[in-house]
Amino acid sequence: MNFKITLLPGDGIGPEIVTEAVRVLDVVASKFGHSFAYTERLMGGCSIDKFGSSLTDETLADCQACDAVLLGAVGGPKWDDPNAKDRPERGLLALRKGLGVFANLRPVKVHPALIDSSPLKPEKLQGVDILVIRELTGGLYFGWPKGRDVKDGRERAVDTLEYYDYEIRRVMELAFSLAAGRKKKVTSVDKANVLESSRLWRQIATKIGSQHPDIALEHVLVDTASMRLITGPAWMDVVVTENMFGDILTDEASVLAGSMGMLPSASLGDKGPGLYEPIHGSAPDIAGKGIANPIGTILSTAMLLRHSLKLEAEAVSIENAVDQTITDGCRTGDIGGKLSTKQMADEIISRL
Ligand code: IPM
Ligand code: MG
Repeated sequence: MNFKITLLPGDGIGPEIVTEAVRVLDVVASKFGHSFAYTERLMGGCSIDKFGSSLTDETLADCQACDAVLLGAVGGPKWDDPNAKDRPERGLLALRKGLGVFANLRPVKVHPALIDSSPLKPEKLQGVDILVIRELTGGLYFGWPKGRDVKDGRERAVDTLEYYDYEIRRVMELAFSLAAGRKKKVTSVDKANVLESSRLWRQIATKIGSQHPDIALEHVLVDTASMRLITGPAWMDVVVTENMFGDILTDEASVLAGSMGMLPSASLGDKGPGLYEPIHGSAPDIAGKGIANPIGTILSTAMLLRHSLKLEAEAVSIENAVDQTITDGCRTGDIGGKLSTKQMADEIISRL
C-alpha cells in the first residue's frame, strides 16, 4: 500500500534521529511491500530562522493532508529568549492543536536488560508496563485567559487550567477502550482536592467508569501519583491525566525505562493523521555529534504504523527488532554504551 508521511525533523538531535527512523521505515516498506512517500518540512527553531514562524500555514496544511506525521524534536538555547515573539515550542503546540490530536499515548516499558540503567531498585522495576494517556490539546497549556499585563501597578502573568466536558470525555473514553485490551484498569490522575477542573475530570471519569463495569477505575491525586511512580510503578497500567500533569509524570516515568531516549509517543485525534514523536527534547548538548539514542523515534514509527497506517505486523516487527537489539547488549551513550545513532539503527535494521 502507498502512504504519505510528513517528516518534521526539527532542531538539535531531531534531524539525526529522524534520518535513522526513516531508514528503518524504508526497510519495513520493502520487506512488507509498501511504499512511503515522504514530505520533509521545517518546524520549530529552524522554521523561525527560515520563515520567521515556528509553524507556517503551508507546513500545517501539509501535515493535515498526509497519513501520519513523524517529528524529531524542537527547541534549543538559540531560541530561548523570553521576549521573543515566537518560540519553537509554540509551533509544536499549534501543530498538536491544528491536527486535533487530543490524546498523547506514552507507553513506558522497562526492558529487563536495562533494569540496571535506571537509578531505581531492580525489584521496583520488575514487570513495569504503563501506558500514560496525556490529554494534549486542553488544560493548562491552552486555557484562556493567558498572558501578561500590569494590574494595580504590579506585573502579572496568567495561565488558565480549563476543560470542557467533551474534552475530558473523549480522552477518558479512549483510556477505557485501550484498558480493555490491557489489564482492565484505569488510573485517573487529577488534583480534585484543590482544582475545580479536576472535580469535573473526576466526575466524568466516574460516569464513564460506571459504563465499563469490567474495568477497574481508581482516582489518584497527582502528587500521590508522582510518588507511586517511583515507589510502586508495577502497580500502574493505563494512566489518564491532564496535559501538564501528563507532561511532568512522563518525564518522571522515563527514568524507569533507563533513559528518556527510549520512549516513543503517539498523538491521536478522532480522525486525520496522527503525530508521532519521541518524548525527549532536542538535546542541544549532544546535537550534531551523531550519538543520540534513536530508539524513542524508531519506536514512534512502530506506533505510527500501528495507529495511523493500521499495519500491526509491521509495527510488531520493529518492536521485536528493538527488543532483540537491547537484549543483545547494543547501547548508545545514554544507556551506558558507545554506539553512534547510526550504528544503533544499523543493529536494529539487521534484526528486522
Ligand atoms: C513534551 C515536551 C513539550 C510539552 C514541550 C517541548 C512544549 O516537553 O512533548 O513533553 O511540554 O508538551
Ligand atoms: Mg515534556
